[in-house]
This record gives sequence, C-alpha cells and structure tokens, in this order.
Amino acid sequence: MDDAIGRDRTVAVVGTGTMGQGIAQVALAAGHPVRLYDSAPGRAAEAVAAIGARLDRLVEKGRMDAAGREAAAGRLHAAADLAELADAALVVEAIVEDLSVKQRLFADLEKTVGDDALLATNTSSLSVTAIAGGLRLPGRFVGLHFFNPAPLLPLVEVVRGFATDETAATRAYETVKAWGKTPVRCADTPGFLVNRIARPFYAEAFRVLEEGGADPATIDAVLRESGGFRMGPFELTDLIGQDVNEAVTRSVWDSFFQDPKFTPSLAQRRLVESGRHGRKTGHGWFSYAEGAERPEPHTAPPAKAPERITVRGDLGPAEPLVGLFEAAGITVRRKKGEGFVDLPGGVRLSLVDGESSFEYHQEEIVYFDLALDYAAAGRIALSAREGIAPEALAEAVGLFQALGKQVSVIGDVPGMIVGRTVAMLVDLAVDAVDRGVATAEDVDTAMRLGVNYPAGPLEWAEKVGHRRLCALLRQLHERYATGRYAPAVGLVRRGYTEEAEELR
Ligand code: NAI
Repeated sequence: MDDAIGRDRTVAVVGTGTMGQGIAQVALAAGHPVRLYDSAPGRAAEAVAAIGARLDRLVEKGRMDAAGREAAAGRLHAAADLAELADAALVVEAIVEDLSVKQRLFADLEKTVGDDALLATNTSSLSVTAIAGGLRLPGRFVGLHFFNPAPLLPLVEVVRGFATDETAATRAYETVKAWGKTPVRCADTPGFLVNRIARPFYAEAFRVLEEGGADPATIDAVLRESGGFRMGPFELTDLIGQDVNEAVTRSVWDSFFQDPKFTPSLAQRRLVESGRHGRKTGHGWFSYAEGAERPEPHTAPPAKAPERITVRGDLGPAEPLVGLFEAAGITVRRKKGEGFVDLPGGVRLSLVDGESSFEYHQEEIVYFDLALDYAAAGRIALSAREGIAPEALAEAVGLFQALGKQVSVIGDVPGMIVGRTVAMLVDLAVDAVDRGVATAEDVDTAMRLGVNYPAGPLEWAEKVGHRRLCALLRQLHERYATGRYAPAVGLVRRGYTEEAEELR
C-alpha cells in the first residue's frame, strides 16, 4: 500500500532559511509543486532564486538535465501570504526555534489548510507534542527532522508526538521515503534519536580531558584510529560550533530533568564563555589561525616487542589480536585463565574493563582500549598506573607496535577512551529501544546515517557483548557514583541473558 502523498499534490515550506530551502529542494526534486512562505519580506523570493541557482549547479555537474531543471523551476513559487498555502497536502515548518512562535504559526496554518493536510515541524530540540499542544487536530501533526544539508543527507527522523495518529506518522514516513530519504520512526523524546544517543560521544571525551587522561589531539586520534569514528569529538565540535553543540547538550539535559547521563561539560562551558566557538571564530579546542598547526597526538617512541607471550583464556572482543600477534612472529602460548595476556617482564595486559590500574597492588597491569576492529586499527591506547616501571610499560608498547600500530599511552582513567564512549552509547541506545522510542534497527540506522558512526550502537553491543559493557559501566558507576554510569536496566538484563545462553 502506498501511503505517500501524491507527487501532484502541493508541499508548502514555511521558513525559508538554511533548512527550509534544503527541504523545499528535496520535495521539488521528488516532483511536487512547492510553495514557499517566509515572514521576512522578500525572503521567500530570495529562496526561490537560491534554489534555482542550486538546480543550475546540478545541471552543470550533469546530475540533472536542463528540461528537468525548467520543469522543477516551474513548480516552485513564493507565497506572499499564508492563505496561498491553502491547497497544500503537507506543510513543513522550518522557522525560528521558538516554541510560542511555532505554536502561533500552526494555529494560523490550521485555519488555512484543509483538515486532511499533514502538518510537520523540522524542530531539532523542541517537543513535537508541545508545538501541537493547542491544535484542533493534533493527530495530523508530526516531526520531520531533516539534517543539514537536507538535499545531501539521507536521514529523516519521523517523530510521533503524544497525539499523532498512526496514519499521519505512516503517511509522513512513506512520503519522505518516496523522496529518496531514509526515514526512521521515533517517539517524541528530547533530542529524538541522534541528538539523544550521541551525547556521550562528546561528553566522555571531554571528561577524559578534564580528568587529565589525555589531550584533545590524542583523544581524537584514538577515537578515529581505534574507534573507527570518522572524526574525533574535539575536531567535530569545532566544526559544528561549541556554542551549538553545547546548546543541544544543555537542551537534552534540561529536558531529561537534569539526568546525570546527560550532564554537560565544564571544560566546554569555559570554551563557550571564552568565545572560542570553533572554526567559525578561528579558535575552539584547536586554533584555526593562519599558519596554526594541529597538535600531534601523543605517540609512544619505538619499543622492543616481547618474543613470546602467554594468553590466558579468551580475550573476548580482542581475541582477533591473538592471530595478529602470531602473524607478527610472536610466540603465543595459551593457558586457562580469565582473559589476560601475560608478558615476560611480568606485566599483565587486560582489555579495558572500567577498573583503574592503581587498584592492583600485586602486579603491574596495563590496560588496552577497545577497538572497532583490531586488525584495521591504526592506533591503540594503553593506560597504566603512575610509577609503573618504564621497561614494563615499554614491553606492552612494543607488543602493539609489532602489529604495525601506533600506541598512545594515556593516563589511568577508568574505562579509557573508546571503552567508556562505546559503553555509554550502547547504554543510551538500549534504553531508548526498551522505552519504545524506536526499534533497534532504526536506532542503528539513525546513528550510522545521522552522525556517521562506523557501526550502530546495538550492532556494536552484539560484537563486544552486553555483559562486558554492563560490567564496564558498573565499574565506572562504582568509581564516579553520580548515577551517570548506572547501567540501564535493559543492558543489565541483556547481560544476564547472554550469560545464561553461554552457560546453556
Ligand atoms: P534559519 O534562521 O536559517 O531560517 C529560519 C527562517 O524562518 C528565516 O528565513 C526567518 O525569516 C523565518 N521565520 C522566522 N519566523 C517566522 C514565522 N513566524 N513565519 C514564517 N517564517 C519565519 O534557520 P534554520 O537553521 O533553517 O532552522 C530552521 C528550523 O530547523 C529550526 O527549528 C531549527 O531548529 C531546525 N533545524 C536546523 C538545523 C540546522 O542545522 N540549521 C538542522 C535540523 C533542524
């Protein structure tokens, strides 16, 4: 059954700034007649011209033919008045992010369009339910959260407000799908899917910095080269704008009644206060002044690899390392045990588990961080307690260098960098699924397409194991005790289920 709005029906876009123009272009390319309205005089006509210029560029690049461009331009009109939107089958609002202004606009629109028209908001941080709160027919109201730039980015979050009818949500979903987008369905929750679940990607990195674990360049490098993320959180927030990124964090935190899972960062607060908003101001975490060089990540100097090691038990998600060690010519002996690597000099190597090295009095323990794919990782982070014998640490460094990897030795921060980041992303993702915000599949799609994650958090959790991630969070919870790291009930449950299946 095709529930999408017919291509012959008019789509209206109200608010013709960055997002409105992008959304209008998408609807136009899909074949709809499109009408634009903006309250600032002349702005809608400017948008018509700007979209026309963008279509011209598509023709120049050979991505659209001249006849298609003419036809599209013929379907695009500026409206001088809201009344001209009367026959729209769908109105997408992309005006200023202000609840009362949006509410007023929709009250006017409700008097203008037919009762069967769909009404949608592109809000990124307001409650869809609140915007629709005063409407006569809130059932036909949805959130359609496009990402910037809308013509290029495939993801659209289709948000059901408290009063949204299932038929309206399905119609909106099928319509954006027919436009060539990848829609995901989600309930009306602070930050929707992407902005809710992505918070720890930034917050954990900022915490590692605040705790003196590593500097921004090193944390970025570890998340890129070991975590597989396209960009590190420091460089990414410099691109987004520290003010914009912090505003999203604060809005989600406030909307969750200041739940510690979403607590903003003091280090980022200071950056915003100082006016260092990122690339756009010439300075953020990094400097963008003329000639400024990006600091290099800390990388350990070359060290000698041990000739033989003992692997005790199964290394879990780090098990592929064993084959890599052997391929590098290191003799590996296997013995029973709880998943450690013993080095000849007496160091015990362990995959990050949320504990701190200083808690081990008897032996020298060195932690290595989680990697998305140990074979592909270009860098591995290690952490050891202060005062560890340099030769002991060097042996661990040499072991990973023998695999052709760079090594960053970071401070003794529980959960390290990738470990705590992934555990928190999984925690929030699992919690969103269990609360019915979205399906597991949609959560993973949203994170892969909305923020370019190399794997969806739920898919990642399957690889690492829920029990292991839950145990890591429990260790962090014990050490920080703010509630931030208390594992979600659903993560605990999945951990037990996994254990029960293994015992069977
Ligand atoms: P913008 O500032 O570029 O454009 C807003 C436009 O709305 C302006 O042209 C303004 O004249 C017009 N406007 C303001 N009040 C109006 C009213 N009462 N009636 C008609 N027109 C009105 O803003 P932008 O960035 O396009 O954002 C629009 C909406 O999209 C906001 O709700 C924002 O949160 C959301 N959004 C923004 C994203 C972004 O990356 N910029 C991404 C996703 C959502």
